[in-house]
Amino acid sequence: MEFSDILHSRRSIRAFTNKPVSQDTIDAILQDALESPSSSNTQPFKIAVASGETCQQLGQALLSKYRKINKIQRQPLPLKLFNMVFSKAMPDGDYTPILGKYPGIFQERRIKTGKGLYETLGIKRGDRQARDDAMARNFTFFDAPVAMFIFVHPGMTFTALVDAGIMMQSLMLSATDRGLGTCPQGALGMWRSPLEKHFDIPKGYKLLCGIALGYPDNDNPVNAYRPEKIAVQELTIPSKT
Ligand SMILES: Cc1cc2nc3c(=O)[nH]c(=O)nc-3n(C[C@H](O)[C@H](O)[C@H](O)COP(=O)(O)O)c2cc1C
Repeated sequence: MEFSDILHSRRSIRAFTNKPVSQDTIDAILQDALESPSSSNTQPFKIAVASGETCQQLGQALLSKYRKINKIQRQPLPLKLFNMVFSKAMPDGDYTPILGKYPGIFQERRIKTGKGLYETLGIKRGDRQARDDAMARNFTFFDAPVAMFIFVHPGMTFTALVDAGIMMQSLMLSATDRGLGTCPQGALGMWRSPLEKHFDIPKGYKLLCGIALGYPDNDNPVNAYRPEKIAVQELTIPSKT
């Protein structure tokens, strides 16, 4: 593919076939990701790659935590508080997601994108169960055969986040070029403890998010969703002079 085609055809993929991804392909994608620039070439990131049985087990562990916390959130206050303390389901990730509303225009864009996604999935506005089920699919990586968990070193402050983001995009574009699909997933940053069982995470590294990787299920309409991007005029800050 031409570079421009790769760039434009990459979209977040939320349904995968069960075709496995070979270790050679995973290695090649990771090698490509390492071509990314980083601040003073510090490369302050690490990736835990889960495939096969590890991927299955992690998916089940994360899904179970999500189901539990979802149930707890709907309980009456005293029971809710009790379970929040004793259920072991409370999020234990390193970066807390923004709870509640996003600020200003970002909330509008978030709602618009979410609405479009639910429409594509055929989920009605008030159907909370269907929305919860759609959300739950995050935790089994939308059935992707590979889940990647991105860690950064907080000693590198904001550059770690910038560097990880650039590296992730290289990884996702490399995957696209090889006919694979990806979904970057903030949801996979919610629980760290299930990962500790499968990986010796180096001291000091913090879990940022995840990426689902696999072959896209092109028959699933969810993968046809193309959320609107802002216009270049909205991206750029006009010059005063
Ligand atoms: C840091 C980050 C976190 C994201 N988290 C999730 C997530 O948890 N679940 C999900 O379905 N999509 C997630 N996405 C995908 C975005 O929803 C998606 O990138 C956005 O809607 C634009 O769509 P596109 O990737 O198809 O261009 C995430 C994307 C990024 C960059």
